[in-house]
Amino acid sequence: MNDSAPDALSKRKDYGSIALEEGSLSSDPIEQLMAWVAEADAAGIYEPNAMVLSTIDPGGAPSSRTVLLRGIDEHGLYFYTDYGSRKGLALLANPEVSVVFPWYAQHRQVLIYGHASPVDSEVSDAYFATRPRGSQIGAWSSEQSRPIESREALEARVLEMERRFADNPDIPRPESWGGFVIEPQRMEFWAGRTSRLHDRVSFDRESRGWSVTRLQP
Ligand SMILES: Cc1cc2nc3c(=O)[nH]c(=O)nc-3n(C[C@H](O)[C@H](O)[C@H](O)COP(=O)(O)O)c2cc1C
Repeated sequence: MNDSAPDALSKRKDYGSIALEEGSLSSDPIEQLMAWVAEADAAGIYEPNAMVLSTIDPGGAPSSRTVLLRGIDEHGLYFYTDYGSRKGLALLANPEVSVVFPWYAQHRQVLIYGHASPVDSEVSDAYFATRPRGSQIGAWSSEQSRPIESREALEARVLEMERRFADNPDIPRPESWGGFVIEPQRMEFWAGRTSRLHDRVSFDRESRGWSVTRLQP
């Protein structure tokens, strides 16, 4: 180990003593996730709906990035992005994803494995219409994940789009921008406990309902 490693790398925190009991969790893990997002929000967590999404590209390489959870229902977890981005292209070729909700300040994480599919265009239209105009112009101006020669070139593209839509009170959704819904197959609820004896409760999708398993820390 490098002796000059910053202190941050050697800190040890003692995690909480709040038990995660199978019986205190909802029998529906999607409902339980909603409850934990709401509790993260109530606890003042910055971006409580941020999740780290990992995808696999056609060559088999994994990649991860943060996206925001924008909806959740019985079908799964909704987020929005550019279908032509690195993640968009990866998902159109291989729907398998892994997701982490990292609520470190609460000694909690939720890990999800599932399949992502594009949502119906009406769902994307409806969500796009709720976005601030600046974000809508941004979606038209950026071909997410593709190289660009400079910041100036991006800003010039924004000006061009502002001119293009100057007379449109409602900006239409670009075809290449929209939502995915992640249907979870496995959801693990993790709560940090003292001496690294953490609680882990895994929900695995069965043909009807979910099986519940406690995992070793
Ligand atoms: C807090 C946070 C929230 C983000 N939310 C989104 C999002 O909802 N959708 C999105 O496309 N990118 C979002 N991003 C940007 C992505 O992390 C990423 O840079 C971008 O989507 C390009 O990823 P890709 O090249 O792997 O496709 C967010 C970044 C951060 C830090």
